[in-house]
Amino acid sequence: SNPSLLILPGDGIGPEVMTEVRKVIDWYGTKRDMAFDVSEDLVGGSAYDAHGTPLTDATMAKAQEVDAVLLGAVGGPKYDALDFSVKPERGLLRLRKEMDLFANLRPAQCFDALADFSSLKRDVVAGLDIVIVRELTSGIYFGEPRGIIEDGNERVGINTQRYTESEIDRVARNAFELAMRRNRKLCSMEKANVMESGVLWREVVTEVGKDYPEVELSHMYADAGAMQLCRWPKQFDVIVTDNLFGDLLSDAAAMLTGSLGMLPSASLGAPMANGRPKALYEPVHGSAPDIAGQGKANPIACILSFAMALRYSFDAGDEATRLEQAVEKVLADGLRTADLLGEEGAQPVSTAEMGDAIVAALDAS
Ligand code: NAI
Ligand code: MG
Repeated sequence: SNPSLLILPGDGIGPEVMTEVRKVIDWYGTKRDMAFDVSEDLVGGSAYDAHGTPLTDATMAKAQEVDAVLLGAVGGPKYDALDFSVKPERGLLRLRKEMDLFANLRPAQCFDALADFSSLKRDVVAGLDIVIVRELTSGIYFGEPRGIIEDGNERVGINTQRYTESEIDRVARNAFELAMRRNRKLCSMEKANVMESGVLWREVVTEVGKDYPEVELSHMYADAGAMQLCRWPKQFDVIVTDNLFGDLLSDAAAMLTGSLGMLPSASLGAPMANGRPKALYEPVHGSAPDIAGQGKANPIACILSFAMALRYSFDAGDEATRLEQAVEKVLADGLRTADLLGEEGAQPVSTAEMGDAIVAALDAS
């Protein structure tokens, strides 16, 4: 049977960018004989409007069954006053939690045509293609004890960085598998110099590394890593790090390359029966209420999220590269959605024009 894909467009610009991804998916079905069993469902505010909940049990069950989930974005001002338990974000959080997506992949990829868009020098970023693997379900954002307590005559804010060996082991394995599919180079970042969790992190990653002798493993303190990411990011290929450091490092690395409208992501869990990990793919950006409904959204982040799905869930790395090259081609041709233009910029293209151009570039590939 065909590989299965659940599409959850969500709110705001989510459905707009997903319409363009559907064109790409259709292209693969008709021109490359790669048909997907695609089903589509509601998430976030749109699900709340229809069902009074940001994610129904039926949608949750479907997400558990498919080979991959592709999500647009959720949220918007219309839902800001809702009770926390039914806020759009809760739909996304439920997906991540129940699918147990513990490894968050954030690529920082710099298309040559956009190298001048970066705040760094062209030669530092041009051609950059790295992935940060961030542990997503444990660490200081979840560790107990936590809270604000009274201590004598003042209050104390407490969070606990806590990692079990198995939590480190599984995210490390995920990162090594990724490194095997890429350039067999992995850098692990922690602060083993000042943190016990960092000492354990380094030990466990080193141990897991023995199962991947082909991968060149290095370790770096996370603060030095932040510096190296800005100084010469091309020294890295895959980086694996904890939840807190990954939050900071992935946001910083992303901005090496330009616009929010360009950034894909993947969240991976444990391997399924077919050996591929459970997976949710989504652009990094949100629902962008300020431009929703105007045909201005850049669909590339969502299209590149589908490219990640091709590579990591559907064993179609060559097709993922084909799609990334189609994106590179339209950018090199000068096509820009509004977010990719400076103040004085030329005429922007619409969401649909960008999607059509990428499909045309696929046709020409
Ligand atoms: P946002 O990412 O939606 O927008 C930030 C800025 O970037 C806006 O000016 C927007 O127009 C622009 N932008 C974002 N994506 C773009 C694209 N594809 N093309 C062109 N411009 C783009 O973040 P914001 O404004 O903080 O949040 C808006 C809503 O989205 C909120 O309800 C928030 O909770 C939700 N959100 C949802 C996320 C998700 O679904 N994963 C992630 C982040 C925010
Ligand atoms: Mg963040």
